[in-house]
Amino acid sequence: MTRSAYTVPPIAAERLPDLLRAMPKAELHMHIEGSLEPEQMFALAARNGVALKYPSVQSLKDAYVFNNLQEFLDIYHDGTMVLKTEQDFYDMACAYLARAQADNVLHTELFFDTQTHTGHGLSADTVINGLYQACADAPAKFGMTASLILCFLRHLSEEEAFECLEQALPHRDKIVGIGLASSEVGHPPEKFARVYARARQLGFRLVAHAGEEAPPAYIWSALDVLQVERIDHGVQAIHDAALMQRLAQDKMPLTVCPLSNLKLCVFPTLAQHNIGRMLDAGICATINSDDPAYFGGYINENFTQTFAALGLNAQHAYTLAANSFEASFIDASLRQRYMHRLQEVFEGFS
Ligand code: ADE
Ligand code: ZN
Repeated sequence: MTRSAYTVPPIAAERLPDLLRAMPKAELHMHIEGSLEPEQMFALAARNGVALKYPSVQSLKDAYVFNNLQEFLDIYHDGTMVLKTEQDFYDMACAYLARAQADNVLHTELFFDTQTHTGHGLSADTVINGLYQACADAPAKFGMTASLILCFLRHLSEEEAFECLEQALPHRDKIVGIGLASSEVGHPPEKFARVYARARQLGFRLVAHAGEEAPPAYIWSALDVLQVERIDHGVQAIHDAALMQRLAQDKMPLTVCPLSNLKLCVFPTLAQHNIGRMLDAGICATINSDDPAYFGGYINENFTQTFAALGLNAQHAYTLAANSFEASFIDASLRQRYMHRLQEVFEGFS
């Protein structure tokens, strides 16, 4: 049964939080380095003999107060210093996959960035091999599928992005797509036009962060210059009616991260978040956790808090979950299986 042909059965409002948690879903916007919990960070620091800037887990957690994206990125970068070996990357990814499984995530596409780690003297091979092994083990270990999206760091140069792509090429078959992350304002998508064109030639699927903090122009150029298949965040599109129409018409997915937007002060409160308006405008929005160890919750927490703040209903829940499978880079037969499981859970709640 297709998404549009399915009618959501009546579900009592008080059962909505349980439905949101039980509902099968895909997570498409999750930076694996942003899943590194303070406890695991301290354990890895001890294992690798790395000194942390903070004396305790609590003092580190207390530092997670951000006024904007850059303040977060600075702390996030410090946290990555504890990762040294293939095993560290494997363990970090497995810790996330276990949490995702508990949240009924059936499929995830994990962002990672080799440039952070090569900047600390690690090889791209160490990063990719560790993460890939966790993705390969995901079906047997966690009952789910997982793939990898390599993000270029947009505050670095085009030349460095080309170098990053080159280093990943021996691992071409371990990476489904290419993305663009890090400090957005001042680093527009067109800076990476040529390296995205090269990635497209190589058969990578393409996504990019755009319109998280920067204006709608960044979303237009991600679409028209980079020719991406999904926009990560994209919440600033609300300020441009023509862009909203374009996103809806093209069924262009947006991977929205409500708790991230709240923590980074993109919206003052969750009640002011625009994901409900995006859905009402017919945009293929999804809910994701971005950097859950820093932003106060994994995907189910994003769902339950957003639904409570905005008064969304079971129809919205179904649409968001269906959008997540629709927007994912899985093949048609797996998508059909996951959609079937989604509808079974909805039937069970009716
Ligand atoms: N890297 C990790 N999280 C990010 C975010 N929310 N935006 C841009 N780059 C990121
Ligand atoms: Zn992100």
